[in-house]
Amino acid sequence: MRRVFLFILPILIIVSAAFTLFGFFQVRFEEEKLIDDLKRKAKSVAESMELSVQHVLSANDLKNANYLAEKFETRERLQGCVIYDKDGNIIALTKRFGDWKEKDKPYIKDIIANKTPRGELEKFKDYQVYSYILPIVDDAGQFLGMVEVIHDTSYVFARLTELWKRISSTLIILVVVIFIISIFLHRQIFALPVQRLTDWFKHFQKGETDEAHPIREKGDLGKLASEVEQVALSLRVARRTISDEAQARMEKEEIWTEAKLKDLVHAKLGENALFIVSNREPYMHTIDEATGLEQCIRPASGVVTAIHPVLCACGGTWVAHGAGNADKKFVNSKDKLGVPPKDIRYILKRVWLDKEEEDGYYYGFSNEGLWPLCHNTHTRPVFRELDWQAYKKVNQKFADSVLEELPVKHPFVFIQDYHFTLLGKMIKERRPDATIALFWHIPWPTPEAFSICPYRKEILEGMLGCDLIGFHVQNHCNNFLDTANRLLESRVDIEKFSIVRSEKETFVRAFPISVNGHFNQAAKDADIKREIDKIKKEFDLEGKIIGLGVDRIDYTKGIVERVLAIDRFLEKYPQYKKKFVFIQLAAPSRVHIKRYHDLMAEIDELIEKKNWKYSDSGWKPIVYLKRHFSLDEIEPFYKMADLCIVSSLHDGMNLVAKEYVAARKDLSGSLILSQFTGAARELVDAIQVNPYSIEEFADSIQLVLQMPQDEKTKRMEKMRKVISENNVYRWAGNIITELAALKKV
Ligand code: F6P
Repeated sequence: MRRVFLFILPILIIVSAAFTLFGFFQVRFEEEKLIDDLKRKAKSVAESMELSVQHVLSANDLKNANYLAEKFETRERLQGCVIYDKDGNIIALTKRFGDWKEKDKPYIKDIIANKTPRGELEKFKDYQVYSYILPIVDDAGQFLGMVEVIHDTSYVFARLTELWKRISSTLIILVVVIFIISIFLHRQIFALPVQRLTDWFKHFQKGETDEAHPIREKGDLGKLASEVEQVALSLRVARRTISDEAQARMEKEEIWTEAKLKDLVHAKLGENALFIVSNREPYMHTIDEATGLEQCIRPASGVVTAIHPVLCACGGTWVAHGAGNADKKFVNSKDKLGVPPKDIRYILKRVWLDKEEEDGYYYGFSNEGLWPLCHNTHTRPVFRELDWQAYKKVNQKFADSVLEELPVKHPFVFIQDYHFTLLGKMIKERRPDATIALFWHIPWPTPEAFSICPYRKEILEGMLGCDLIGFHVQNHCNNFLDTANRLLESRVDIEKFSIVRSEKETFVRAFPISVNGHFNQAAKDADIKREIDKIKKEFDLEGKIIGLGVDRIDYTKGIVERVLAIDRFLEKYPQYKKKFVFIQLAAPSRVHIKRYHDLMAEIDELIEKKNWKYSDSGWKPIVYLKRHFSLDEIEPFYKMADLCIVSSLHDGMNLVAKEYVAARKDLSGSLILSQFTGAARELVDAIQVNPYSIEEFADSIQLVLQMPQDEKTKRMEKMRKVISENNVYRWAGNIITELAALKKV
């Protein structure tokens, strides 16, 4: 469109300039004509009065003089008439023009002296007039006085203004007509054929149509079309070959790898690229308010940890909330950017939320309502009508944003988590051909617990808009089926593990999420070693037993219970004083929610109290590092920790536990794992604890420290095997296989 404007603009400028010039001359011509006309009229009126005025002045007949002056009152556009005696004094004038007396008339003297008539345009008070003065002489040539005829000229200007208006409106109509014709011609000659060719190209190279391209003309556009046709054909052939090869390779490989997942995506989804939707984005651009420095961070989130390697492997588009304060600076006109920044593998599309939307949807409904509802941690869920409204609005906003991106045929949409319970239904209503999966990254409660939610019905209906719903563990699937069965009019098919409502079937499956099996392969061992030495030096850890916790600061993570257990451990086993240091890496999270704010203060105070209780000659039992840590920064901590504690009170999976195991390729290190995490079902060789039982928890720390190295190694080996077999590529592969089986063709 910009090009069309650039093309039309000079034409419009030239036409407007020519028309304005023409108008200017026409107005000038009209003005001259009207004034000339006026002059002639004034002169002829004055001359027609000459004889009568001569009589009046010769006889000094004042009565008739006044009669003469009033005689013109009714004449159109004639303002008045003035009769002067030989000395230039007014002896009679038209009444309605009485204040003409007050006008200064220096020219009268010249007329008396030269006895020549005078006609001029005059402005006096509110009058715009033409005055014509005719000297009156008797038959003997004796000067008797003068008669002045005054004509109104305002009608001349009214006529000229009217003329300008007519010219301007003609010009506007002309400009609009030229504009419309140009747009129409551009559309017919250029835009429509190009649009048709583009659409054809999109469908042909994907194998969605076999028709020949739509350009029939032979000229330049025809040549371009046949070039495009060649490219589309080669692309189609190449895609087909890749897909066949992928299928063959995939069937051969046992362990799931990035390459195997890529092959599966090609083989199963073909050209139907994957669309991921989550609240949290995988890359967040921020500006540090203190330093003004821009940075790109990877948020601490289970969703990000799991989905990022999947999209790196198979490409696609990830739609997420652009929550970073510098996010807008890094997107293109469609709010998109390629990520990872230095090795682009997929597209991130950012959706913008205003403060009110973020408050209601994210902080309010998602994290003060659904989060505590689904986690069994005795924090009361809060449901506010305004939050629910914002939640619905934001779900619709995301649905619109996703719908904009979907290709014409059979797209695959993979929604993440409790932030988007309504999205599946919203997308399905407009794109019934889309295959939609939702993965629920947190636990699903019992029907009794879920039923306290005032919006339970809408939430379940929204979720059942999806074709597939995944949970981490079978127990959450069972809870979901029970919930749908009890709270919604639906039919649960226990054989197929599906729910049928309004003739729509939704399958429910357990897919335990995982990590990529080789924690952060990119970092070199020598660099990690250097980092470890640096950290040990900084916190005086040389020769100490190191414990580690890595969490978002959340009441579900059992951080308080962990500190209490460390306290009890040191009370019960004082021989570890000055020998044991626990490092807690803690990323602040959801800080605008009071419960989180209070928790941060509670943890600060508790750690401070316990450190004070035990501090001795510079040693303190807990190093508390409260900030966001990138994966690269966490890696040396994982690799140097003798034990890692994951003590969630309730957790969908907990990927920190799996990351720690994946990072320990030296096979040393031990994991203490809460029995209330999803990970506990798979990592049975971890030391499992009930984090509420502080005594048992403290003893488990001692148990790990006492354990022979041989046993530790065996446990770690087994856990690593579980993780490398059930890695995140397998998780994604299983979901994609299920999705592909549901593909709507
Ligand atoms: O892993 C559970 C989870 O809720 C994710 O869904 C989420 O991304 C993560 O915790 C972190 O929470 P937030 O995105 O609110 O910081």
